[in-house]
Amino acid sequence: MSENILEMRNIVKQFPGVLANDNVNFQVRRGEVHCLLGENGAGKSTLMNILYGLYDQTSGDILLNGEVVNISSPRVAIEHGIGMVHQHFMLIPALTVIENVILGMPENSQILDLDAASKKLMELANKYHIKLNPNDMVENLSVGEEQRLEILKALFRGADLLILDEPTAVLTPQEVEELFKMIHKLTNEGHTVIFISHKLNEVMYISDRITVLRNGRSCETVNKENTDKHQLANLMVGRDINLDIEKPPAQLGETVLEMKDVHAMSVKGVEALRGVTLDIRKGEILGVAGVDGNGQDELLECITGLKPVTKGTIKVNGEDMTNASPRNIMKSGVGHIPANRHKRGMILEMPVKENLMMIDYYKKKFANGMLLKWDEIEKESEELVKEFNVKTASIDTPAGTLSGGNQQKMVLARELSRSPVFLIAAHPVRGLDIGATEFVRTRILDERNRGAGVLLVSTELEEIMSMSDRIAVMYEGEIMGIVNREDATVSELGLMMAGSKRQVD
Ligand SMILES: Nc1ncnc2c1ncn2[C@@H]1O[C@H](COP(=O)(O)OP(=O)(O)O)[C@@H](O)[C@H]1O
Ligand SMILES: [Mg+2]
Repeated sequence: MSENILEMRNIVKQFPGVLANDNVNFQVRRGEVHCLLGENGAGKSTLMNILYGLYDQTSGDILLNGEVVNISSPRVAIEHGIGMVHQHFMLIPALTVIENVILGMPENSQILDLDAASKKLMELANKYHIKLNPNDMVENLSVGEEQRLEILKALFRGADLLILDEPTAVLTPQEVEELFKMIHKLTNEGHTVIFISHKLNEVMYISDRITVLRNGRSCETVNKENTDKHQLANLMVGRDINLDIEKPPAQLGETVLEMKDVHAMSVKGVEALRGVTLDIRKGEILGVAGVDGNGQDELLECITGLKPVTKGTIKVNGEDMTNASPRNIMKSGVGHIPANRHKRGMILEMPVKENLMMIDYYKKKFANGMLLKWDEIEKESEELVKEFNVKTASIDTPAGTLSGGNQQKMVLARELSRSPVFLIAAHPVRGLDIGATEFVRTRILDERNRGAGVLLVSTELEEIMSMSDRIAVMYEGEIMGIVNREDATVSELGLMMAGSKRQVD
């Protein structure tokens, strides 16, 4: 008898043009929390989607309790006691809790009527101390509640081995704690959990063992007791990584951003900013924390002139820029690393050199009236590509063909080469690997140390905590409080992220 509940042997998954899994070996023991750790694109979701019957492997075997199985669909996976909660939830908002749970159940299943199903669901919910009303509409649930429902739904269907794909990405720290409690309860009762993550802190907290995937290959499985964050980071990246960010004390200068009672509407026509007041001075990083969708996008759009301000004022470098044009705002000394670089930061089809010059082309140095000085543009582009370590075949390569990290370095090169007085960095490392992350963060800190004021918006609390001098928390379009970094605790920030105003004594 094998002690492994699951063994995946030499799994290969070839997508057109992408080898997502390259001979992966992965073994999970009954009753453990096994983390699958790896950078974005390492092949974690693909491997688990194969296990859950969503994809066929190109080659390789899956063994459950020592027997080779053919998992041709999620239904077969469920029959084998495998449950999966995806990164993006798959519940239907217009249905009730219980309707979602029984939706898609086999027709010959025991649970035919809603009442019996509700009763069984409530028993499960009580067992895991989860508050739930089977008749609530799913659209009224919070993100955390939806996730708990997804887990219960998997258990309802008899999941013994539960796969959670990046489950903490959408949660507040308190919700993460609740989730971890639930995971412990599950494993105490004999369930097995595969926990996918790229966050070292939580991996070191929750797992028994950890398997690291890098570039589609499984590089090592380690016991939590025998490893640390540093080793895991090195395994993920394949080279030595410095996790600590060093930061001299802030040297504060004049105010670069001053927002007073700013209001704005969302695209849906509801008020998305409800009286935001904050300021940023030269030489400091103000981090804006919050769960995605609490007005951060609208905040950035108002500051950069992309969304009308319905009430209140915004001053940039002392000048009133309320409802000014994006062009005039940028010209007043603002640099912007946008959240969605494909939509706002670059033109994918244009060569790197034109992307680098997108904002400055009208300047004397690069243009003579209507004529562009291409030799100057090319010289400057070559220098920027070198300085910012942008890996590209040449400056004539279409920007869209670069990797995500190199696209971001290109945007960074363009924005920082203008020496902005005020830098806006929106989710600057989202989707980047550890190496590019290290580079981008260091450059942003350099700007602060040079004396720029920086607005950093991020949903990653770790990033906010390590970069910021002060931290503001947004919830439903309001600032719940602003805390100095030295005084900030994860639990206080977490409470504010969930909507409680800061208690000032
Ligand atoms: N359905 C698909 N078709 C083509 N390529 C895919 C598909 N799904 C994932 N990939 C590619 O496979 C690689 C691994 O992706 P994924 O398993 O999602 O990584 P992770 O979950 O570790 O971030 C990536 O390069 C991704 O772009
Ligand atoms: Mg994934």
